[in-house]
Amino acid sequence: MTRKIEFFDTTLRDGEQTPGVSFSIDEKVAIAKQLEKWGITVIEAGFPAASPDSFEAVQQIARSLKTTSVTGLARCVISDIDKAYEAVKDAVHPQIHVFIATSPIHLQYKLKMTEEQVLASIKECVSYARSKIDVIEFSPEDATRSDREFLLKAVQTAVDAGATYINIPDTVGYTTPAEFTEIFTYLINNIHSEREIIFSPHCHDDLGMAVANSLAAIKAGAGRVEGTVNGIGERAGNAALEEIAVALHIRNDFYEAQSPLNLAETVNTAALVSQYSGIAIPKNKAVVGANAFAHESGIHQDGVLKNALTYEIITPELVGLTHNALPLGKLSGRHAFTEKLNALGISYKTSDIDTLFAKFKRLADKKREITDADIRALVSGVIIKN
Ligand code: KIV
Ligand code: ZN
Repeated sequence: MTRKIEFFDTTLRDGEQTPGVSFSIDEKVAIAKQLEKWGITVIEAGFPAASPDSFEAVQQIARSLKTTSVTGLARCVISDIDKAYEAVKDAVHPQIHVFIATSPIHLQYKLKMTEEQVLASIKECVSYARSKIDVIEFSPEDATRSDREFLLKAVQTAVDAGATYINIPDTVGYTTPAEFTEIFTYLINNIHSEREIIFSPHCHDDLGMAVANSLAAIKAGAGRVEGTVNGIGERAGNAALEEIAVALHIRNDFYEAQSPLNLAETVNTAALVSQYSGIAIPKNKAVVGANAFAHESGIHQDGVLKNALTYEIITPELVGLTHNALPLGKLSGRHAFTEKLNALGISYKTSDIDTLFAKFKRLADKKREITDADIRALVSGVIIKN
């Protein structure tokens, strides 16, 4: 049975915590509208208590969206919850996201609180948030470095106080897929509630495992997943939602879960966030990088020309592209070269192919990228230099 996983996008909150990134309110509203078009379930539009602009952005987004839920982040502090409530209350589906740290290092140095004080704060703040709004998510920050039994107590306290969603943040990107599976299994099996409680992972990428950890949590029973577009976020970033969505689609046989996303809007969404954040998408990034559907070596190009499935597990069309690319370079073969001549409408005699291909190989040894103009020049006997 395929489960539908809720997608929680925090590009406008955790994504904006990327060093150097600051979205204007108009940019945030435009991104939120694109996220709605993409099919995101809930948008964390910001941290309303952080600044007047943050509040204004969350409020404008809450008032602009037609179907998507909107949430605002709040520390376990009554005044933060009041601000979050005021900012999201006009949304069609408002939510509030309350968090407090549960790891020993955060309790000792950051919060300077005992475990009992943290539990009392969770009880007070989650109940207060729940008295204002029906849907509350609670996050025990730095969950993966927290004592497991205390983590369970914190989560149970939040559930008893009215939280419906329990988000488990791997705040510093510390966990591994196997360990995260254990954490989710332990919490899901030991939580007591009459209501349905939905768990979600919120992973950071410090060890390059944010997407793998998120997928492990889904496999272990999470019903919601959190992340950002293009994986932007604090330090090494957050889990890239487009990668998780496409992984669920391609490996549905394994995960038995699917995203709610309209995947054909993936490339548009990634491009918009890249443009407004000023963070370029790495060429080799999975799913939306410029090279994600480019095949350079002769063996691969020959295979793809015969049947794209030989080297493509994702079709370009799935994520909103029209075609793949076979860039010509020194590793390209005769098959891709003649396809390029045909695509450019260049007529040639079959008997000339050996000579033309040899000329092309000599040029490719000198130039990193062979352009269409190079090919035309090569055929007419003139070589354009970089
Ligand atoms: O990474 C984190 O712990 C967070 C929380 C606020 C959920 O972003
Ligand atoms: Zn985070």
